[in-house]
Amino acid sequence: MASPSKDKTVSLRTERAKRAGTRPPALKSGYPATRLRRNRRADWSRRLVRETALTPDDLIWPLFVIDGERARSEIESMPGVARLSIDLAVRAAEDAAAIGLPAIALFPNTEPSLRDEAASQAFNPGNLVCRAVRAIKQAVPEIGIICDVALDPYTSHGHDGLLDEDGTVDNDRTLQALITQALIQAEAGCDILAPSDMMDGRIGAIRAALEENGFTDTQILSYAAKYASAYYGPFRDAVGSGVQLRGDKKTYQMDPANGDEALREVALDISEGADMVMVKPGIAYLDIVWRVKEAFKLPTFVYQTSGEYAMLTAAAERGWLDRDRVILENLLAFKRAGADAIFTYFAPEVARRLKDEF
Ligand code: PBG
Repeated sequence: MASPSKDKTVSLRTERAKRAGTRPPALKSGYPATRLRRNRRADWSRRLVRETALTPDDLIWPLFVIDGERARSEIESMPGVARLSIDLAVRAAEDAAAIGLPAIALFPNTEPSLRDEAASQAFNPGNLVCRAVRAIKQAVPEIGIICDVALDPYTSHGHDGLLDEDGTVDNDRTLQALITQALIQAEAGCDILAPSDMMDGRIGAIRAALEENGFTDTQILSYAAKYASAYYGPFRDAVGSGVQLRGDKKTYQMDPANGDEALREVALDISEGADMVMVKPGIAYLDIVWRVKEAFKLPTFVYQTSGEYAMLTAAAERGWLDRDRVILENLLAFKRAGADAIFTYFAPEVARRLKDEF
């Protein structure tokens, strides 16, 4: 026997159907059989059908390192980001591990007096970045350490490679320099070498040198599709490579107009021994992230660049964008496009926020 309350439900339904005018006709495909808003109607339901998620495991925190002790110098074009002396970088790495970030990436700001045409400091096992790697490895062995392989923090002209007399970047001479730089960083304890220089053949050259020297477990994350982009400006302020940059980087970094070429770059780097590849910049290159992931199915990272950080931060400071929401939306977009991990200056604040939510 039907209970009174059930009867009531039935009559309510009938009421609603009457209000709707007619009973829905025999349903064909499409509306109204399909109403995509049904799944969106409540928070619990949206959570159930969500396709992508962001976790602290997805985030890599880039850190800028300077000489000195208890030294912090703010970067004007990246409000909220500071260059840190090694002791403070160690503390930052401890924080990073505590909030669940798997890895940090170190970028040295070399004293201007130590920069020269030959990038000599890049080959000094006692240079700033190698000292930072050793100190962090010792204090926080559980966090992954990533180091750029490129000469721009060390050259007086700001280029990633060595220059010929006519001012062009000499590919093959640069390869020799990158090998030495890679080896001293591996020796210092760097876990992942990340060549960001865009020379031809560098992944193969570095991989061979690592194997020959017994660094068989050092990972290589290739900045495989790195574009000649205007988004790197604030980073160049941070490492001090922009002030004196002679010309631009268009003869080695990729043309922003090209997509197919990114697949050739990635294919080559895989064949030369890359363990992971990266697309850079991020938000303006989601199509490249997607194509690379689709085509190769290997760990694909994306770099949310300094310029992206600056754009979001500046608009949020003016109250024009909701900072928290727009940051998450951008990071989620990288995941949706296929990225496995994201370099982002927002890493600690986002990891903290994500942790609080669980
Ligand atoms: C250096 C390097 C750059 C970035 C990472 N490694 C700048 C450049 O190529 O000039 C950019 C990072 C950022 O903008 O956040 N090879």
